[in-house]
Amino acid sequence: MAILKTDNLTRRFGGLVAVNNLSFEIPEGKITGLIGPNGSGKSTTINLISGVLPASSGSVEYRGRKITGYAPHMVARMGISRTYQQIRLFEKMTVLENVYVARNMMYKSGLADVLMGSKRLSAEDRANEKKAMELLELVGLADKADELPKNLPYGYRRFLEIARALATEPKLLLLDEPAAGMNRDEFMEVMDLVRRLRSMGISVLLVEHTMEFVEAVVDHVVVLNFGQKLAEGTFAQIEKDPQVIEAYLGKEEL
Ligand SMILES: Nc1ncnc2c1ncn2[C@@H]1O[C@H](COP(=O)(O)OP(=O)(O)O)[C@@H](O)[C@H]1O
Ligand SMILES: [Mg+2]
Repeated sequence: MAILKTDNLTRRFGGLVAVNNLSFEIPEGKITGLIGPNGSGKSTTINLISGVLPASSGSVEYRGRKITGYAPHMVARMGISRTYQQIRLFEKMTVLENVYVARNMMYKSGLADVLMGSKRLSAEDRANEKKAMELLELVGLADKADELPKNLPYGYRRFLEIARALATEPKLLLLDEPAAGMNRDEFMEVMDLVRRLRSMGISVLLVEHTMEFVEAVVDHVVVLNFGQKLAEGTFAQIEKDPQVIEAYLGKEEL
C-alpha cells in the first residue's frame, strides 16, 4: 500500500526542468530512499510534496486524495511533515519551545479560550509541553530542553529539527539529508532514529547521499538523475544497475 504517489510531477525554473515527469510511490510504513547526484531534483521533490513549491504540472496523491496545490500548513495538517537541507530553527526560542510552538496548529482552543484563559487552553498547553518533552527524549535532547539552539552542537540541531517535524504527529516524514554535517556518533544515532520512526509506524522519505546510511536503513530506493527517475528497487538492485553506477554511484568513489 502506498501512502503517497506522485504522477508525472514536474517543476520548471525558467528553462530548467528540475523535476521531470516523476512518478513514484512511497510505501506505507517503510523507509524510501531518494538519491541522485547534486542538482538532480531531490530537494525540489520534497518541496513539491510538502507544498512549499507549486508543481508546474502533474500531481501528488496522499492516502488516495489529491493534495497538489495545497499550502504547506494544509499538507502538514493532513499528516505530512518535513525537515530542510538548510536547518531552520527559531533561534530566540529554547529547544523545548521550538518543538512546542510547532504543535500550535494542533490546538483545539479558539481565540475565545485564549482571551478568557480557559481551562481547555491551559490543559492543552500542559499536554503540548508534555508531548514536546517526549519528542526531545525520543531524539536524545531532553537534557538540552532549556538551551538555545545556537548552543547545540551542529548535529544536535538536526535532531531538534526532526523533533520539531514530529511535533505535528506526521504519518509521513520527509527528511532532506538529515545526516549532513554530523560526526560519526551523531551519524550512527540518526540512522537508529530513522529506524525507530519506522517501528513507530511513520513512513519516511529519506534524501541522503551517504550510501552507508541508505544501504543500512532503506526498504526501497528511487534514483533521480536530471529530475527524472533513473531506477527504482531495493538497494541491492540499484547498486548493481549499470545506469546508476554510471550516473551516480561510480562517481562517489572518485
Ligand atoms: N528556487 C529555485 N530557483 C531556480 N532553480 C532552482 C531552485 N531550486 C532548485 N533549483 C535548481 O533545480 C535543480 C534541482 O535542485 P535540487 O532539487 O535542489 O537538487 P538536489 O536536492 O537533488 O541537489 C538544480 O539545478 C537547482 O539549481
Ligand atoms: Mg538537495
